[in-house]
Amino acid sequence: MATLIEQLNESVAFIKARVTSQSSIGIILGSGLSNLANQIVAEQEIPYGEIPHFPVSTVEGHRGKLIFGTLGGVPVWVMAGRFHFYEGYSAQQVAYPVRVMRLLGVETLLLSNAAGGVNPAFEVGDLMIIKDHISLFQVNPLLGKNEDSLGTRFPDMSEPYSKDLIMRVKDLATRHNISLHEGVYLGVTGPTFETRAEYKLIHIVGGDAVGMSTVQETIAAVHAGMKVFAMSVITDLGIREEENTITHEEVLQAATAAEPKMTLLFTGLVQELAGQ
Ligand code: HPA
Repeated sequence: MATLIEQLNESVAFIKARVTSQSSIGIILGSGLSNLANQIVAEQEIPYGEIPHFPVSTVEGHRGKLIFGTLGGVPVWVMAGRFHFYEGYSAQQVAYPVRVMRLLGVETLLLSNAAGGVNPAFEVGDLMIIKDHISLFQVNPLLGKNEDSLGTRFPDMSEPYSKDLIMRVKDLATRHNISLHEGVYLGVTGPTFETRAEYKLIHIVGGDAVGMSTVQETIAAVHAGMKVFAMSVITDLGIREEENTITHEEVLQAATAAEPKMTLLFTGLVQELAGQ
């Protein structure tokens, strides 16, 4: 069987044969967050199913695609649709596209997700800059033989989310009058939403928001020397006085409603990075 790096090189060669343009910025979009995808002027779109070695699920494999295009005039790679651990992918498979992006020349990775708020100050529709994360039960994507050509065996994780990028987005938000929280994202496996007791635990151990993605992608990106910026849209509140249930539909709706603010910030950030 081909080694990881051989597989990655084949994926990358396939993509490079289709897309000759380049960008050092990659974006991965979370559930319900397709507004940003609609702002992208696509030059090329490649369904995940066509890319050799890309993880493909029997259920959702036809949906995701890798887009090369421009956002606010700036060239970007975008993964519309991501792989989640709860779908049955291994941690390594979840991280695979991040590594492909790295080998395509991506140096800065922007991530978005829908997350449940556990900080009592949060409301549905708020945006949270992820300043740090806690992985709770999420399997580390770097388990197994280290791929030395990508990164070191024991990566430092003292600044998984770039302080420089966080500062830039905070400045942008101030200029556009967008209020933001900054907090800790706690990654879980899902697919169950949390019990009331679990939401409380997550808050007690230091989480401000909880979600089922992002952490494994960030680890793979940091391992490979990329700068990461990540933002959560708070789509539901885990800690409330009243009895309440959480549905996937509610999460998607809240994500869609709050997304234009996030699109504006992501667009502003890529323009800044491109020096525009
Ligand atoms: N918990 C976990 N993942 C989520 C949630 C939540 O409440 N909301 C959106 N993704």
